[in-house]
Amino acid sequence: MGIELLVNLSYVAAAVLFIFGLKMLGSPATARKGNLVSAVGMFIAVVITLLDQSIIDYKWIAVGIVAGGVVGAVIARSVAMTSMPEMVAMFNGFGGIASLLVGWAALYGFEANAFEMITIALSILIGGVTFTGSMIAYGKLSEKMPGRPLVFAGQRVFNILLILAIIASTVMFVLNPEQHLYLYLVVGLSALLGIMLVIPIGGADMPVVISLLNSYSGLAACAAGFAINNIILIVAGALVGASGIILTQIMCKAMNRSLSNVLFSGFTKVAAGGGMAKIEGEAKAMSAEDAYYVLEAASSVVIVPGYGMAVAQAQHVVKELQEILEKNGAEVVYAIHPVAGRMPGHMNVLLAEADVSYDLLLEMDAVNPRMDTFDVAIVIGANDVVNPAAREMEGSPIYGMPVINVDMARNVFVMKRSMASGFAGIDNPLFFKENTRMLFGDAKEMLGNIIKAFA
Ligand code: TAP
Repeated sequence: MGIELLVNLSYVAAAVLFIFGLKMLGSPATARKGNLVSAVGMFIAVVITLLDQSIIDYKWIAVGIVAGGVVGAVIARSVAMTSMPEMVAMFNGFGGIASLLVGWAALYGFEANAFEMITIALSILIGGVTFTGSMIAYGKLSEKMPGRPLVFAGQRVFNILLILAIIASTVMFVLNPEQHLYLYLVVGLSALLGIMLVIPIGGADMPVVISLLNSYSGLAACAAGFAINNIILIVAGALVGASGIILTQIMCKAMNRSLSNVLFSGFTKVAAGGGMAKIEGEAKAMSAEDAYYVLEAASSVVIVPGYGMAVAQAQHVVKELQEILEKNGAEVVYAIHPVAGRMPGHMNVLLAEADVSYDLLLEMDAVNPRMDTFDVAIVIGANDVVNPAAREMEGSPIYGMPVINVDMARNVFVMKRSMASGFAGIDNPLFFKENTRMLFGDAKEMLGNIIKAFA
């Protein structure tokens, strides 16, 4: 078998493993295996690419693998679960700059034809936008820069002129690849465009932006794959590009927003605009001991986790309470909202860490129709995803967003530290409902106190 055939067959095998891996990532039960399957695909792709005879220097590749591997391992081990979106932003950015550099490097060593020149230009352009856009998203999420939308007079006109300048310099670059001035212009202007596209978006929308930038990093890699004529890079880039855009759409849908609304109007601005009817009533607080009496008598309980569970790192205590309730004869399930927490699958990951069985995790659409059959709904550090204003208050910025209807359960316990609003910055009428009791305090501590009462 010729070496070329072996390379191509291996690439096909790697692509198949990527696709199966991605499919398995779609369910919590198979996600770990999916990661492994994709990693094996990537391993095959890397090994086969390294066998390529046109590689001239293995020394620098080895240095890159070791240095990147060490930095990646240290960061992955030390990053807190709540900071994961920031890390993903960084990864996307590095993916973008890598594609930019691959495209740039492809200018040397062989005579590119017109099609290859276009793909080189695209990998540099999209890579540049992805890199700086991701760095801004990182800065906003990590609060190293202000999260509010940064807008200035004439921004739209400036952006349009910028895009026109990018198109012009890209065309000039493709027509005159030997003129480095145009290359530098494409690099510089696309880097500027990345910044300009992300600064007007509020910190609140950064998770969606990161998912979109993830898609861009895939497109940049795909273009780089065409530039250096590497099939597996084209396939992997296309898969990342497509899955990123699908995830972006899922997130927008779960927040009842359109992508253009996310990109062009800061959520914070809308939230501050208000327009909501005033919430009447008084929130009623309750002690852990009183909660125990109700839970002790309950025969069905639904637990609704949110961002506060991640902050309090309460997942293990939640599992402990679940087991106690089950021993006491109650049915316990978890209701998971698609955008609970700060990243897709946030709650699933935390609960998996505490060994909560996947069968107990119900999606919002599965649990809402039977909400009135639960004796108690325990809301643990969730706020926006259980806000009935999404159903009841037409003026609310989240009106129309699908939420978990905990207020329809017989009793609702809300664990949070104060009356503070959640991510969307809006009040929550749930706290004032007749059947709601507030358990004020850190979720982990409060759950611990309820568990103590059971002992
Ligand atoms: P949030 O609405 O952000 O509410 C979290 C609540 O947790 C806060 O109100 C906070 O109240 C409470 N909390 C914080 N620390 C706590 C602790 N140690 N113990 C107990 N409670 C604590 O969270 P959610 O309901 O999960 O909603 C997610 C939000 O993020 C939605 O608005 C969603 O649109 C947005 N978002 C999510 C994603 C993804 S992919 N997940 C992407 C984009 C946007 P106190 O301060 O009073 O304790």
